Amino acid sequence: MKSCKLSWLLVAILSIMVAAFSYKFTVGEVQPSDDGRLAVQLSNDERNALLLEMRTWLQNSQAMLAAVSSQDFATVATIAKSSGMAAEAGTPGSLFRKIPLEMKKIGFDTRQKFDEIAIDAEKLKNSQHTIKQISTAMNNCVACHATYRFVASDK
Ligand code: HEC
Repeated sequence: MKSCKLSWLLVAILSIMVAAFSYKFTVGEVQPSDDGRLAVQLSNDERNALLLEMRTWLQNSQAMLAAVSSQDFATVATIAKSSGMAAEAGTPGSLFRKIPLEMKKIGFDTRQKFDEIAIDAEKLKNSQHTIKQISTAMNNCVACHATYRFVASDK
């Protein structure tokens, strides 16, 4: 009987831990921001790393448009792939906890859209189609920036 009670206690404790972890994973480390957005609280290094990734996204979006304007679909595909899901592999686990689920979803969706741009550029070689895809992917940039900002909580 005693060991039975103990196992129930263990189950209860584990369930609470799982629930707390899932809650953190869903909500992330966010605070309301005075500009009406949600401020994701990061360390200085994490913020710098993400902002660098952002500047790479901007640079790659411009480079894809330049390549598609000269019908260079091989370059479109290479650049799009470098912004796709493969680039996610280097993201540290600590960031996954701090970034709210909704934001992660938009981020992953953007990477998947870049992967689709790469596949279609190689397969279809249709500039109108690629431009439309870049425009659709960039709606995610707009949506995420409208909702979130990054704040470094240590200096
Ligand atoms: C999942 C959310 C998300 C997506 C998607 C996203 N961004 Fe960002 N981006 C942010 C946040 C948050 C910031 C910080 C804004 C702030 O703190 O005011 C940022 C900042 C930036 C910056 C400023 C970098 C700096 O050095 O200050 C650039 C440029 C940028 N993003 C480009 C892009 C482009 C281009 C795309 C789409 C291809 C994109 N972002 C998609 C969340 C996102």
